Amino acid sequence: MTSSEWPPSRPVMGYNTWYQFRTNITEAEVVRQAQLLVSSGLAAAGYGCVNLDDGWMAAERAANGELTGDAAKFPHGIAWLADQIHALGLRFGIYTAIGTRTCQSLPASGGHYDQDAKTFASWGVDFVKVDDCGGLPAGTTVDTLTENFRQFGAYLRRYNPDVVYSQELPIHQIGKPSFLPAVRASAEFAHMWRVAHDEYPLTHEGASSMILGHLAADLPLHSFAGPGHWNDLDMIAPAFPGNGWTLEDLCNQLSVWAMEASPLLISADLGALSPAALDALKNPHMIAIDQSGEQCSTVIMNENIEALMKPDPAGGIAVLFVNLGPDTSTGHFELSEFGINSASASGRNVWTGITTTFTGVSVTLEAGQTTLMQISAA
Ligand code: GLA
Repeated sequence: MTSSEWPPSRPVMGYNTWYQFRTNITEAEVVRQAQLLVSSGLAAAGYGCVNLDDGWMAAERAANGELTGDAAKFPHGIAWLADQIHALGLRFGIYTAIGTRTCQSLPASGGHYDQDAKTFASWGVDFVKVDDCGGLPAGTTVDTLTENFRQFGAYLRRYNPDVVYSQELPIHQIGKPSFLPAVRASAEFAHMWRVAHDEYPLTHEGASSMILGHLAADLPLHSFAGPGHWNDLDMIAPAFPGNGWTLEDLCNQLSVWAMEASPLLISADLGALSPAALDALKNPHMIAIDQSGEQCSTVIMNENIEALMKPDPAGGIAVLFVNLGPDTSTGHFELSEFGINSASASGRNVWTGITTTFTGVSVTLEAGQTTLMQISAA
């Protein structure tokens, strides 16, 4: 792993079971994915946390009221699984929800915040995702919900001061006046919070509009992001390559997530990834841009080409060009628009590694496509 810092000040990197396995997860499969994370080199590239999503718990709590794993899927129990993951040098994460039911109608933490926080800590859980689903008491308002999320976070930290708290308070406020207050509250008490809907549909045809829709939702939220607290665009490589995405779709997503400093949680079958897809996920320049410590806050536009920028830890600035229009479009930009005052600059394409020198930038992109570059004074 590149960093053993925990809780990480930078966006969390790791693995999540949801898009690939939905509720069909078993301990054998989770261990296999964790082993693949290590053997593929993804863990060494920084993807160090393995998270169970919905579907791990038994249909009912145990007689003593404790949450317990589904014994058919997890015969050795969740504490055993946490030990296996830890033995691989990885962190272990788990999922629950703020009401009494998860999004798959399984038992969740409503009425049990203290008890569940204690259980998770006793299992050695390093990361807890708390969803915003069913089983909320009558009379629930955004304010009471916010208070519930705040309280659960406090219990989680009481029993494990190093826990990473990931939650979805803002998601059901999307499009409502309560959205921004929900994001503001999340930024006070969580490490990461979802700012966009689940990724859907997962098809090649739907890829660029989903990716650019998530980007548009996140751009205005940059002031909430910073070390230790990040806007979460949702998982990367969702069920890739079974989702029909091309490698280009994957790189478009990674480019946007990196520019936005989103957590990077892979949700694919790691055993099915091509060497090229693994290389894209491990691309050290993309990862450095994601982990730079800030979300993009500057955007300029020419024709239908949007240019998003932030400092590049490798030097100069990272610039993401995006075609927002319906057709192929070319954008022209002066170097001064990127804060470069020399007569010429060099640009390194983060995906091809090819470097060019120019006196101004002309970018031609097909509809919905992106390109990620490092631009520095030459
Ligand atoms: C919601 C969340 C997803 C996933 C599912 C599980 O839809 O947004 O990320 O956790 O619930 O049921």
